[in-house]
Amino acid sequence: MSGELAEGVISLGSGDAHPGILPDLTAEAHEALTARRAETLQYAPRPGLPALRETVAELMGRDGAPLAPSEVQIVNGAKHGLELVCRLLLAPGDSVVVTAPTYFTALPIFRGCGAGFVEVGRDAEGLDVDELDETLTRLARAGERLPKLIYEVPDFHNPSGVTLSRPRREALLALAARHGIVVVEDSPYREVRFTDRREPLLKAIDPERVILLGTFSKLVAPGLRIGWVAADSGLLERMAQAKTDGGSCPLTQRIITEFCRRGRLDEHIGRVRETYRTHRDRMVAALRRELPAVSMRIPEGGYYVWLSLPPGLDADMIESRAEAEGVAVLSGSRFFAGGAVGPSNQQPPTSFLRLAYSFAGPDEIDEGVRRLAAAMRDIAA
Ligand SMILES: Cc1ncc(COP(=O)(O)O)c(C=O)c1O
Repeated sequence: MSGELAEGVISLGSGDAHPGILPDLTAEAHEALTARRAETLQYAPRPGLPALRETVAELMGRDGAPLAPSEVQIVNGAKHGLELVCRLLLAPGDSVVVTAPTYFTALPIFRGCGAGFVEVGRDAEGLDVDELDETLTRLARAGERLPKLIYEVPDFHNPSGVTLSRPRREALLALAARHGIVVVEDSPYREVRFTDRREPLLKAIDPERVILLGTFSKLVAPGLRIGWVAADSGLLERMAQAKTDGGSCPLTQRIITEFCRRGRLDEHIGRVRETYRTHRDRMVAALRRELPAVSMRIPEGGYYVWLSLPPGLDADMIESRAEAEGVAVLSGSRFFAGGAVGPSNQQPPTSFLRLAYSFAGPDEIDEGVRRLAAAMRDIAA
């Protein structure tokens, strides 16, 4: 678990993998530590193992974004990739476009580089490009500095679950091009999909403008800590210099390379989709049964359900009460940049909750939602 929970508490909080879906990697590890020992127990090249860079380039090519291996930097997960991108591209006083809500773990990374935020809304089609257009036009007219980066999670967004529509993807990239702003596409859930509808990668539409963050965390195992950054090779050369960890772990890089080389990835992705679709269905059914007054959009992929609470219920209070009832959930207020650093310095809304259906099994999901409903009834009483 990424967070420490008291015994008996059901986790619908963080986006951990379901333990039953973690693959057996014994054969890959054996290969890494025997036939590949000289490579595995050595420092890895800073850009990553050549075989893994090739594998990632091929995966991205299959997804419509052909890349050369020199356009792939292996990193210790997507968060690490984001940190490196920010270290290279942001300076104190810069700002970053994030949506309201956004992936909350990205916020301290931006803040750590001294950046502030320009928040833009999300609706059923994802990032509100018209609103962003108005904001950028206003900033430009006032002679203010424009944001340096637009950060977006376009597929099965964390936390809202929404996928950025094709027209919005095109409009976003056209807008970014007009103002010369780099787009960071963070898409860890792209293959955790319960639908055949597939929008093109932003990286496929505008390879020059977009820096893509990818990860094996949601597809193979988060504990391996292997992800990638796809960007032009000039930026990646600077990134390799900035990457002072002695190279990402060659053992886990080789395990993933072998997993893919043996043809196991595709079959495993099928299991991942099936497992999380079942979890999603159980959670949606439990929510409808136990909490009919709460509204939600049913996610077509990813790990999360984003709940809108009826008036009068405070998500921060629910988060702590629910934990006392034996279920961990996250208050939606964590997912807004505005409160602490945003230009408007608003209080983040407390009318949303994020529930993860990834870690807990179906029966735990039922029980977790039941406990959540009990906590909410206590508060309402
Ligand atoms: C949007 C988003 N980006 C990045 C990550 C983290 O990925 P990694 O484990 O590769 O650092 C997550 C995980 O929850 C996520 O939801």
